[in-house]
Amino acid sequence: MSAILPPAERLWWKHPLDRVEGTWIVIAFAWCMVMFFMMIYWHVYGKQNLSTETYKTTPDRFAAKAQAMVDKYTVRTETDQKIPVVAPPATEDVYMIARLWAWWPILELEKGRTYRLHLTAMDYNHGFSLQPANINIQVVPGYEHVVKVTPNASGTYSVVCNEYCGINHHQMVGRIYVK
Ligand code: CUA
Repeated sequence: MSAILPPAERLWWKHPLDRVEGTWIVIAFAWCMVMFFMMIYWHVYGKQNLSTETYKTTPDRFAAKAQAMVDKYTVRTETDQKIPVVAPPATEDVYMIARLWAWWPILELEKGRTYRLHLTAMDYNHGFSLQPANINIQVVPGYEHVVKVTPNASGTYSVVCNEYCGINHHQMVGRIYVK
């Protein structure tokens, strides 16, 4: 038998299973099981995967909630574009909008307090990459991603878009202050 010629016996599944073949099937299946349970194990014990909640939303609905937070808790504005800096109390849900090519608004959070950070994209896929903390979340239009965050060090954090989203992708940088 060769791989070039058609098999003499066309009904290949009626051939008896070779021992080597059977051994490889068992090895492959066992390895699949290891990798499958590793996904679950690593999610709980690996301390790398974020447990995000995700809900369906629309740009209008999300923007209304973000705007309500901005109207209530803006403490100042920054840059020429007058981006609001919002300092909501720790009991509140906080919102950040990704769109071509900016993050809005700037958040000012308190160290050691826990917030529910809601993220969405208004137009295309964007990526929420918190630097230098190395937290990465894909931000997808039509979906509201919710992450529980407890800032553990004060400072200025950059939010870098790490999903290529067009000509000004490299300028899509936001900011989170932790006091
Ligand atoms: Cu937004 Cu890249």
